[in-house]
Amino acid sequence: MRLLIFLIFITSQITYIFTSSLCSCENRYASPRLEDLHLDKCRLEDSACMVNAFQKGVATFSKGLPEWGVAAMDVMEFDEPVQIDIAGLSLCFNDGRLKGLENIIIKNIEWDANNHTIYVEYNAPSLVLTGKYLADGQVLLLPIVGDGDMKVKLKNTDVNVLIFLDVYKRSDKTYVSIKNYKYDFNVGLGRYNLTNLFNGDKELGNTVLKLMNDNWQQIALQFARPVMDTVANQIFRNVDRFLAYAPLEDISLSFK
Ligand SMILES: *[C@@H]1O[C@H](CO)[C@@H](O)[C@H](O)[C@H]1NC(C)=O
Ligand SMILES: *[C@@H]1O[C@H](CO)[C@@H](O)[C@H](O)[C@H]1NC(C)=O
Repeated sequence: MRLLIFLIFITSQITYIFTSSLCSCENRYASPRLEDLHLDKCRLEDSACMVNAFQKGVATFSKGLPEWGVAAMDVMEFDEPVQIDIAGLSLCFNDGRLKGLENIIIKNIEWDANNHTIYVEYNAPSLVLTGKYLADGQVLLLPIVGDGDMKVKLKNTDVNVLIFLDVYKRSDKTYVSIKNYKYDFNVGLGRYNLTNLFNGDKELGNTVLKLMNDNWQQIALQFARPVMDTVANQIFRNVDRFLAYAPLEDISLSFK
């Protein structure tokens, strides 16, 4: 055990010496400092100020803060496959990638300090989801089987989220973490494309795609939730990781 720890220690030192000599002018192991993010500070209940601050924050966050475990959110890469088993359809969605979160428009932020909740409303003008799908079953009463690429475009998606916070103290500072959240969304327009449906049978494939696109709203209502759950999960995990480094004394005007 001691030997193992010693070896790990030595290895990390060697790595450190090696990399620091490669790029001697910057310390690659330094965490980003909060002040370097140039976040706007607001009183938490000042909704107008918070909307602007969150809007500016979106640009910073979509690129990710890898030193704090905050993954890039535009492009967002799905950690896990999404399995959909709804209304007679079994669809496995793999290697998911979502583009467009960087362009969301923050509409409303209501931080309720007494209730420990944050209510957030935003609009995503354009979201593009790509990945691999494997489907078997039926959609809108038509049989569907296929194994290929899937591309979904969602226009004008409104999202509202109610976030429940835990508040805690650490080294005399006040932190929040996300205890739970619930969200709802509404899609303005959905467009779907799946390649290699029915083993490449163009006629059958196009029939199903046309039906799906003609009934885009019904498809979005039935099938978008599991994908949105994954997206929400990854967003809030990232936000939570950031919050662990961001005491309210340093990111707001409400705590001194
Ligand atoms: C206050 O919190 C409860 C749950 O703890 C929630 O159901 C309720 O909607 C919140 N009230 C407001 C005004 O946000
Ligand atoms: C679906 O994607 C394929 C391959 O990229 C393309 O050839 C086809 O035109 C697209 N179909 C629709 C309905 O967008």
